[in-house]
Amino acid sequence: MNIGVLFVCLGNICRSPTAHGVFEQRLARRGLSGAVRVDSAGTGDWHIGRAPDPRTQAAAARRGYDLSALRARQVEPGDFQRFQYILAMDGENLRNLRQLRPAAFGGELNLFLHYAEGVAEREVPDPYYGGAEGFDRVLDLVENAADGLLDRLVRDHALRAC
Ligand code: 4NP
Repeated sequence: MNIGVLFVCLGNICRSPTAHGVFEQRLARRGLSGAVRVDSAGTGDWHIGRAPDPRTQAAAARRGYDLSALRARQVEPGDFQRFQYILAMDGENLRNLRQLRPAAFGGELNLFLHYAEGVAEREVPDPYYGGAEGFDRVLDLVENAADGLLDRLVRDHALRAC
């Protein structure tokens, strides 16, 4: 298991846990769970130790994803050693990550929606202060980008089911 993917948002209770759960399910479906380590973290520290927001969990559960075991944590310097793909939900997250990035980091630091196809958005909108439909939109965008990311990893790293 040598590829690590870290999804990052602000609080690690809405968008990045959604990406975490969706991407783990995509890997499992393709028999690739053992090939890629997945985690998520927030640039902020307000929600450390908390489970995903109940609205996030409910929207995810309606599509068959169980996010209940995830707990929020903050991005830490060691993440740049452990993860080769560090994928931000929005531009502010990306700017904050760029400031933390050590010069020796040789992986990819990018917007997660870089991997989405056919969507105009470049950022996954923060649903925290909005209505229920925002959480479904997060899932739509995350599912799209998760498929694109998985295809890319399979191709670039010649991943095989084990
Ligand atoms: P997330 O959403 O970054 O997708 O986890 C947020 C969660 C909490 C806050 C903001 C965004 N907050 O301000 O507490």
